[in-house]
Amino acid sequence: MGRRRLSAAALAALLLLLPACGAKEDVPAVTSRDEPVTLVQATDLHYISPAICDNGAAFHTMVENSDGKAMFYIQEIMETFVDEMTALQPDGVLLTGDLTLLGAKASHQDLAKLLDKLREAGVQTLVIPGNHDLDSTSALSFDGEDYASAEGLSAEEFETLYAPYGFDQALSRDEHSLSYVYAPRKDLRVVMLDANAGGWCSVPDETMGWLEQQLKAAKRAGARVVAASHQNLAVHDPRFTWGYQIVEGDDLRALYEKYGVLCNLSGHLHNQHIVDGAVPEVATSALSICPNQYGVVTYDGETLSYETKELDVAAWAAKNGRTDAELLDFAAYSEEFMTAVNRNKTAAKLADSGLTEEEAALLADTVARLNTAYFSGAAFDLAPYEEGIALWRANGGNRHLESIAAEAAEDYRCLTVTAGG
Ligand SMILES: [Fe+2]
Repeated sequence: MGRRRLSAAALAALLLLLPACGAKEDVPAVTSRDEPVTLVQATDLHYISPAICDNGAAFHTMVENSDGKAMFYIQEIMETFVDEMTALQPDGVLLTGDLTLLGAKASHQDLAKLLDKLREAGVQTLVIPGNHDLDSTSALSFDGEDYASAEGLSAEEFETLYAPYGFDQALSRDEHSLSYVYAPRKDLRVVMLDANAGGWCSVPDETMGWLEQQLKAAKRAGARVVAASHQNLAVHDPRFTWGYQIVEGDDLRALYEKYGVLCNLSGHLHNQHIVDGAVPEVATSALSICPNQYGVVTYDGETLSYETKELDVAAWAAKNGRTDAELLDFAAYSEEFMTAVNRNKTAAKLADSGLTEEEAALLADTVARLNTAYFSGAAFDLAPYEEGIALWRANGGNRHLESIAAEAAEDYRCLTVTAGG
């Protein structure tokens, strides 16, 4: 494949083209009914293999024009995650899509090797693809100032590569997508729904039929259901609907309500958010972006609890003798990196605004810091941003800032669902 020289403009154009981001007889009784089941959900890892990425100038240009994912340390993020899951020993690790940055086969292959370590530690991982993972025509490798097209991965190859990560352990598999059902124990089933097989962000009719059969079977067996998908069933932000909400999202929510599904765990948005309702939906923020967190779900037969936990990359770095100052203070690095990426992007847009340099800097800093705070899902105080918010409003306003400000008092990091009857 021919190599091409990378320019910021070319990469920016490329980024705009990318979308946002067998039945088994026996159900294992993993724990006794007296012990809660623990599941972890991590999403939007956007892993890229060091075999196709040298962290050089071309990759820096791409990352610095993206949304602020801490991609220069993606290997360390994933190794920390594997270590934390090994210590936690959950009953399932749900990886809900966008496993890789641009869908390169090499990245999938090296991610599977990382998951092999978890398997050897006795932890069951469950994967589904996101919109970036299959048949990618955008896969790239990076070498110094150059980049080149890289080979993608087909759905069939995905199924084979990740066979030990859900497909081979499934209670039931759908024939028309990469969806399946996994049972961590007899009273709980996990639906891993692939919304990439029915066209763009859509579930085939046949999969909808299979899904209802699975929900009926769970009910007959007296098991409750936790569902998971990459894209969202609900609208989390009215600015992001097409390509974010699954085309059949409303039908899926109605179906899940009919069968008492406890919640849906999704991602894709990259920010942490929850839409409440009869079947609440969590959108867990991307593992690769500040604050680099995952969701921990416990279910004790009566109550399901979800809460986020931040990766401790700094502790992993110290334990492994790493001396890189950014790794040893990773939470601060990741926060400032994300803020700086977004500050620079807004500043560039304001270059010809007629504002003074100081005013433009305040506007860019305000929206970048608010965006970073918002992505974490934590409630935050708007007071420190008042001057910048007032200046934005005096200069035509900023839709993103207003959307963030309207939700500043909300905390989207926790959820409790009572199972009921
Ligand atoms: Fe996505």
